Amino acid sequence: MTDARPIGFFDSGIGGVAVLAEAHKILPAEQLIYYADNANFPYGSKSAEQVRALSRAATERLLQYSPKLIVVACNTASSVALADLRQRYDVPFVGMVPAVKPASALSVSRRVGVLATEGTSRGQGLADLIDQFANGAEVTTVPAAGLAELVEVGAAASEIEPRLKQYLEPLLTAGTDVVVLGCTHYFFLRPLVERATGVTVVDAAEPVARRVAQVLDEAGALAPQGSRGGVEYLTSGDSHELARVLDHWRQAGCDIP
Ligand code: DGL
Repeated sequence: MTDARPIGFFDSGIGGVAVLAEAHKILPAEQLIYYADNANFPYGSKSAEQVRALSRAATERLLQYSPKLIVVACNTASSVALADLRQRYDVPFVGMVPAVKPASALSVSRRVGVLATEGTSRGQGLADLIDQFANGAEVTTVPAAGLAELVEVGAAASEIEPRLKQYLEPLLTAGTDVVVLGCTHYFFLRPLVERATGVTVVDAAEPVARRVAQVLDEAGALAPQGSRGGVEYLTSGDSHELARVLDHWRQAGCDIP
């Protein structure tokens, strides 16, 4: 059995493109449609109720393309809206969770740091995840206010680095040896975080893309063999601005389809 329908992705902006990129590598025969809700960026500082409403609107936009699966490529939306989306819509969803479990397994000092938006940081989802998967490690969450905003506008490294330093220094002083990127926007900052800290950095882009492949495979819903896959971008904002920022990150060395 095969299914030629596209896979939908959404995020408040460009962050989820890192997940899209991994999915495009793993599933090159699939049609991928990415919806960046730029007009409503950021989600991280909005209330849970607002993020749920925006997530429903994003889902409905993608449903116009009859997707066979939707990836909520945003940690903030996954943590507060995924259950609501699954209840309302008859399409399978795959969401993001900060990679606390692999990080705890990797940490030798037993100290893990999680960088996340304010919304994800205060959500019950992250607290439950830490309870369940910290495996005895001490996990410190840092609400990295303003960081996704710098990624979203394509700020220069020289502007991002001081902000990163401010968030990472207390973690490093406390002996943290693994940092989790708990917001999809931060995936673009991976080389900067690695350079600034020298510690192990984990994100969930590849595991989530693998999960998508697994769900489709189990449902007999992969694209027919020999199909030519591709990527299409949609935005609720300005498409020229979206193209400009994606180009900025391509030029900074990020692998963006
Ligand atoms: N990329 C989103 C996340 O993973 C949120 C960024 C924002 O809109 O604040 O949490």
